[in-house]
Formats: sequence, structure tokens, C-alpha cells
Amino acid sequence: MVKICCIGAGYVGGPTMAVIALKCPSVEVAVVDISVPRISAWNSDQLPIYEPGLDEVVKQCRGKNLFFSTDVEKHVCEADIVFVSVNTPTKTRGLGAGKAADLTYWESAARMIADVSKSDKIVVEKSTVPVKTAEAIEKILTHNSKGIKFQILSNPEFLAEGTAIQDLFNPDRVLIGGRETPEGQKAIQALKDVYAQWVPENRILTTNLWSAELSKLAANAFLAQRISSVNAMSALCEATGADVAQVSFAVGTDSRIGPKFLNASVGFGGSCFQKDILNLVYICECNGLPEVSEYWKQVIKINDYQKSRFVNRVVASMFNTVANKKIAILGFAFKKDTGDTRETPAIDVCKGLLGDKARLSIYDPQVTEDQIQRDLTMNKFDWDHPLHLQPMSPTTVKQVSVVWDAYEATRDAHAVCILTEWDEFKSLDYQRMYDNMQKPAFVFDGRNITNANKLREIGFIVYSIGKPLDAWLKDMPAVA
Ligand code: NAI
Repeated sequence: MVKICCIGAGYVGGPTMAVIALKCPSVEVAVVDISVPRISAWNSDQLPIYEPGLDEVVKQCRGKNLFFSTDVEKHVCEADIVFVSVNTPTKTRGLGAGKAADLTYWESAARMIADVSKSDKIVVEKSTVPVKTAEAIEKILTHNSKGIKFQILSNPEFLAEGTAIQDLFNPDRVLIGGRETPEGQKAIQALKDVYAQWVPENRILTTNLWSAELSKLAANAFLAQRISSVNAMSALCEATGADVAQVSFAVGTDSRIGPKFLNASVGFGGSCFQKDILNLVYICECNGLPEVSEYWKQVIKINDYQKSRFVNRVVASMFNTVANKKIAILGFAFKKDTGDTRETPAIDVCKGLLGDKARLSIYDPQVTEDQIQRDLTMNKFDWDHPLHLQPMSPTTVKQVSVVWDAYEATRDAHAVCILTEWDEFKSLDYQRMYDNMQKPAFVFDGRNITNANKLREIGFIVYSIGKPLDAWLKDMPAVA
């Protein structure tokens, strides 16, 4: 029986390994982590992450061929294939701070693999890493190997949170990069044999190590660039009276462009896009390519611009001050169907409004009060480090209350900001909300999910990103 061990039981390690266990009953999969609470949660009825369909997959395999454990060394020692899916955050200090990937967690995992291994192993990079990381990992492993042979493969993960299980069941492609030596090719084949149990052969792409590593960074950069492109257009639409939904539909019908990922919004978030682009920018700089690095940096600058543009619209529309006004925030997760708040645009929007002394009442169907308070007090980039390295007991932000109901959030509020596209926000009783709000009552729809005309009929002043502006908003221009 092939034994797989995955180091890192996070958003990637957990779902990916659960699907491998489900689809490959003859493979034994152990997911290990240094975080005791995380592993306890994976072994309980309350999994540590919310992802549609994940519960069922875990329930079917857990205790049969899927195990979650904190006994990292034992499972690594026993495994034939070791996936490494630890976090690779942006460095906060030292050389490359604010841009380069922090490989501390990766390096310590690699050293531990070298320490505990007693048999040859395939080590798979599942985390997103800078190009050439495999070379560094190879050096760590071979210099400490005691004669044991390691083959390094790059197998970046392309799942999207919120649709992770579907993406894993039916991936557009699985990418496996390895050395172009006979041993490297043999290792590629061994991993291919695992995926081939449910993924059609023509969707399993094999490349050299560096192409696989770079493809993941490139894919995220291209995806984020589409969002920043449409968001840049949304600003121009507002200035000219064009409607960004009509523009993106017209643009997306071109088969060379395609319709997906062209929705204007308050900005992209999630743990990967910004981190991976910063990483790409840093790699370009290190390779003496300042023009290329400037090009990709612009994708992040537009994203930041879009968030501050939104805040400015809110403040400018409300007579240039939100001090002491109650503003309801609907949605805090970085997108619907996940409880993940890493780099969510809601953090920057809320901080911007708090900076103008607003009182916020926040409702999200999946995010806890504790998480929201933590996010609003944390320094940029601290979120992706383990709890013990994060600032000591973040104080709560007194102007913020977190409630468990959209109507409670909006009671007596002056404005509603929709920051996540949760389906339930589409079918709220906006008349009921309006009746219980201060007047004039505003809706700032950062995801374009409401029917603005209906809201206007109720009496709201409405701002939808990239749509023709209400007369009210035209008279109160927001300069970003
Ligand atoms: P995560 O933060 O949810 O999980 C990482 C886990 O690794 C944590 O539970 C942490 O305790 C554990 N860990 C760290 N060092 C360890 C060690 N030495 N031994 C054992 N466990 C250790 O991170 P997530 O979101 O799963 O991401 C992992 C990697 O996958 C990152 O490189 C990310 O860029 C990449 N990725 C993430 C995607 C996502 O949607 N979240 C999608 C595709 C790739």
C-alpha cells in the first residue's frame, strides 16, 4: 500500500488529501500538523475550515485510509510520498520584507524530513513557492540525507476556496514538475499514478521543476490581473456613464478573452493573490527585470486603489463625514462560501471607515467575532504567521460590533456596505431594512449583487461599483 503523508493541515492540505483518500482507497493518507487545535478539529464534527462538500468527503474516509495527526515525525518516516503544504507567507522582516516569500516553515519541514527519514522518499512541493525553491530544498535534503535518496517534485495546487472539492474532483489540470533524469521521471510517474485514479490522463501535465513552480505564480498573477483590469475599467465607467457589467459582458464574449473572472468588485482578497504577486515582483527584481516587476506591481496598486476608492465614495456621499455614524457591513469573508478572511478587502474597507471614526456593525454568515476583531487589529502580513508569532492579545476595536443577523446589523444604521457576495444578501428584505435605518439611507454595493433600481424605488441612495451614478453621488465626487 502506498503511504502518503502531508505536512500542513490547512485550506490546501486538508481538502486535497481528503479527496486523494476518497479517490484512491488503496492509498493510506496521513495529514499532520504542528497545530494541536487544528488537528483536533479535523478529528471532530466541527472541521477547522468551511468548504461545501468537505464534511461528506472527510466522513467517508476518516479512520479508514485518512488520518489526521500531530505525530509529524512518525508519519513522515513511514511515508513513500511526503507532500509539504505549509504556509509560505510574505516576509515581514529583513531582506525582501513586504515582498519575498518567507520559507522558514518550509525549511524547517525539509530539515525535519531529512532528520527522521529512514527510507527513500518523494517530496512534493504543494505550497506555492518561489521559482528555484526545489533546488534549495534538494540541497537541504541531500546534505543531511545519511545516504537516503530524495526526489523533489513540484505539484502546485490550483483549487479555489469555496469550490475546493469540485475543483479537486474535476481539475482543469494537475501539474507535476520534476527533474529530467530517469529518477526524476520515475518519481513523476509515481505521483501521476495517484492522480490518474480519477483525473483523465490528458489533464495531467508534466514539466520541468522550474516551469511547474513558475506556472503557479503566473496563473495567480493572470487571474488577479483580470480582476484589476475590470476594476480599473469600473472607475472609468463611473466617470463616463458606462455600465461595467455591460462592458465586461461585451468584452467577455470574445472567445480569446472569455467571460470568467470579469466581475467588478471592491477588490480581490484571499491568502494567495497578493502574496504570490509580491513574490513574483521580488523574483523579477532579483533577476534584474525592473520593467517586468513594475508591470505586476500595478495589479496590486489597482487593487489597493479600488478599496480606497470605495471608502472614499462612502465618506464623500455621506456629507464627507462618517464620524459616529453606524455603518452596517454585510460580509467579511474574502468571497462567498468560505469563512476565510485572509487579505479580505473588508479589512481595508473597515479600517478606512474606522479611520474616519465610523461605528461598524458587522455580519458575516461564516466569520466569528473573534476572527473579525483579530483581523482589524493585526498588522499587514502578520495574519499568515502562527498564533504565537502574532501580536500579543490584540485589543478589541470598540467601534466595532459583530452581530449574527443582517437586520440587526442594519438597525438604526446610516448606510449598508456589501463586501462579500453571499447568496443570502440577494434575497434580504431591503424594505424592512430601510424602514429601520436612519435617513437618507445608503447602500454601497461592493459586489454588485443587489437590484439597484429596486433599492432606489424603496428610497435608498445606491452606489454600485462601475455603474452609472445616482445624481446624489455625482454631486459628491470622491477623489481617491
Ligand atoms: P494554512 O495556513 O491554512 O495551512 C498551513 C498549515 O501548515 C498550518 O496549519 C500550519 O500549522 C502548518 N505548518 C506550518 N509549519 C509546519 C511544520 N513545520 N510542520 C507541520 N505543520 C506545519 O495554509 P493554506 O491556505 O493551506 O496554504 C498552504 C500553501 O498552499 C501556501 O503556500 C499557499 O500559498 C498555497 N495555496 C493555497 C491555496 C488556498 O486557496 N488557500 C490555493 C493554492 C495554493
